[in-house]
Amino acid sequence: MGEPRGAHLPVLLRRCLELLAPALEPAGRSAVHVDATLGLGGHAEAVLAAHPNAVLVGLDRDPEALRHAEHRLAPYADRTHLVHAVYDQLPAVLEELGLDRVDGALFDLGVSSLQIDAADRGFSYARDAPLDMRMDQTRGPTAEDIVNTYEAAELTRILRRYGEERFASRIAAAIVRARSRARITSSARLAELVENAIPAAARRTGGHPAKRTFQALRIEVNGELSTLEDALPAALDALAVGGRVVVLSYHSLEDRIVKQAIAARVRSSAPVDLPVELPGTGPTMRLLTRGAEQADPAELAANPRSASVRLRAAERIDHTSRPIPAAAARERPRRIRAIRQPRALVRGETTRGKGHDNDP
Ligand SMILES: C[S@@+](CC[C@H](N)C(=O)[O-])C[C@H]1O[C@@H](n2cnc3c(N)ncnc32)[C@H](O)[C@@H]1O
Repeated sequence: MGEPRGAHLPVLLRRCLELLAPALEPAGRSAVHVDATLGLGGHAEAVLAAHPNAVLVGLDRDPEALRHAEHRLAPYADRTHLVHAVYDQLPAVLEELGLDRVDGALFDLGVSSLQIDAADRGFSYARDAPLDMRMDQTRGPTAEDIVNTYEAAELTRILRRYGEERFASRIAAAIVRARSRARITSSARLAELVENAIPAAARRTGGHPAKRTFQALRIEVNGELSTLEDALPAALDALAVGGRVVVLSYHSLEDRIVKQAIAARVRSSAPVDLPVELPGTGPTMRLLTRGAEQADPAELAANPRSASVRLRAAERIDHTSRPIPAAAARERPRRIRAIRQPRALVRGETTRGKGHDNDP
């Protein structure tokens, strides 16, 4: 297997480890850490190395990323579960593994360098490839399907909302005109169309003219925001008391979803005019970060991917108010493929029945 490890430095790695550490050494049992976006396994490897008793549940929707992570995490095979799943399937994955609580959870959102750099996946306007952009190439519509079938108004909405593209309607009109002559099938053709649709003066500012269009299509192809809206509350609800979540987002819309999901749990849900908390209405989490943290200059210099990162973290402080919804826990993963099961979840015990924006 090609070795893309050096190409990817895990973003804000030291800070992630520091924030997760207090949750990953619970007394008398092994910690369970969920890496919801395993990617090339950089963060996961560091967590496993730093916490010799922690068990990893690593999810990725991209089978190729899982293959790379499996290779990288081979030294820890006895305490890793690697699962092909979308992260909104986390409750079902945990149930399938017989786990009822999680101590650490990390979401490092977006695409990996493996995906951006792949010559054939179409994420990048900088290299010609079929217009695919699916993180999971085994299912779902491609970017080619979207640019060749969506109405102009719908394309405009996506480009404006997910790409914050000023010239969304001009680009959408150019796409519709071009596809009436010939189907748009390649990233180079799309990048060329976008460039020509933008006023000449605007082409000289704000990076590559196609950057925002490619980002918007990628978000649409992979349903990134709606999946996150479902997944994050479920992950927060799966945390044990003292459990911690860290989220790295790279887009303001992602960061807003993260901020809101956490904010809903750090404040009381009791009526504001009540002098005391009612049972079950108190905060269930506390913030570990003030606002969203960003990369410092040293990290920015070493790791360009960190330029747009926003980190938020929180800790579970009460387990009474919001249990995992029973329906979500019962739902089976649609297509779950555990590519590796650990030999033992907790030393000496068996796994079963333990109840327990990126710029390409
Ligand atoms: C930025 S990379 C993670 C890199 C990783 N932290 C590392 O250190 O190597 C994001 C990964 O999350 C995966 N991913 C994105 N959205 C996902 C989702 N909804 N469910 C599961 N995996 C997802 C992508 O396929 C990609 O491999």
